[in-house]
Amino acid sequence: MKTVSISLSPNTEKDDLKIAFKELFSRKKIKGKHLKTFENNFKNYFDFKSVFSLNSGRSSLFLILKSLDIKKGDEIIVQAFTCNAVVNPILKTNATPIYTDIDKTLNIDIEKLKEKITKNTKAVIVQHTFGIPGNIKTIKEICNKHNLILIEDCAHSLGAKYNNKYCGTFGDVSFFSFGRDKIISSVYGGMIGVNNKNLINKIQSNYDKLDYPNRKWVNQQLMHPIIMNLLVLPLYNFLNLGKIILELSIRFKILSKAVSKIEYKGKLPDYFPQKLPNSLAKLANNQFKKLNKFNSHRLEIAKYYKENIGGMLEIKENATYLKYPVLTENGDEIIEEFKKFNIMLEDGWRKNAIVPPKTDLNKMIYKKGECQNAEEISNKIIILPTHINITKDIAEKIVYLFKSLV
Ligand SMILES: Cc1ncc(COP(=O)(O)O)c(C=O)c1O
Repeated sequence: MKTVSISLSPNTEKDDLKIAFKELFSRKKIKGKHLKTFENNFKNYFDFKSVFSLNSGRSSLFLILKSLDIKKGDEIIVQAFTCNAVVNPILKTNATPIYTDIDKTLNIDIEKLKEKITKNTKAVIVQHTFGIPGNIKTIKEICNKHNLILIEDCAHSLGAKYNNKYCGTFGDVSFFSFGRDKIISSVYGGMIGVNNKNLINKIQSNYDKLDYPNRKWVNQQLMHPIIMNLLVLPLYNFLNLGKIILELSIRFKILSKAVSKIEYKGKLPDYFPQKLPNSLAKLANNQFKKLNKFNSHRLEIAKYYKENIGGMLEIKENATYLKYPVLTENGDEIIEEFKKFNIMLEDGWRKNAIVPPKTDLNKMIYKKGECQNAEEISNKIIILPTHINITKDIAEKIVYLFKSLV
């Protein structure tokens, strides 16, 4: 059996592979018609006044904060149980991230949020963790009352709805990610969606100053689905060949890492922020066309897990279930046992209030013990895959194995 992975190119299908191959030889890797096509499709889907495509969610958040004139001394509220890709753009503006604890939906705990607001608070970032909408209506009311900017982080929730309205359309501004393990993927990619006219102009003028990534960087991203699906995953456990190919590909810079070394220590690499290149827009647009299919599939798999193994989340028809979290006391053991059956559950969302696990909490300005629920949950959580390549047979196998281990 081909190795099942939750994070190594999970959304890739044959048509995506074909596009990646073709784009490797394209002369229009950087600028071209796919950028406008993708931006227009995205804009129409949400009915945004303006969208701006970038080379990651991190780039998008940084551009938003810069355009809001966020500076040293300002406080940005963000939930704990988030990733360093959310915190580093805040640190790059020299503002201070203020962490709020989470509730059972893995989203901001509203009561704790109220306690964190001070006269220096400028904005609140709402994460919609794993595609489960946060209580965005109440948070919006709190933001309005205190005159705070509401930023929606829709990295996990593209297509999710709260009260029948798309996540991403409640806040002053929102951003999306098309990272390798997100709802749709162009390996790296992001989008800002905005309706506020003043903010549109400011974002536009900062956006116009950005560069596109270079061809080498674009090639690294195009190689990702190809190497993962044709070499790494099929050979993952065959004499460890897949793992070796993966390590060598990164060492020789044929592939780039999802999170670079300096990001664990509070910095962003110099290729963020940049614009989305044309070839990645083509990949993203092809995936975007499959959004409903992807999200219905995720919902179906989430329902199956819920019925058969339970789990902390309620099933909501309009959530996107990027992944399916379960709390256990023996997560390490479960992850190791699953590996023996060619199922890789590691995705980094574990063991730390700010993930991936090796992130330096001091550099994130997070004090240990600050958000106890987030810490407790991150120690007990394991994540099950829901993506389009998880067939019913694989889901059955996952349930069977899981039940035999708890
Ligand atoms: C919740 C959340 N927000 C933002 C991001 C940043 O997205 P990107 O990886 O595209 O920079 C990520 C992923 O890394 C994420 O998981």
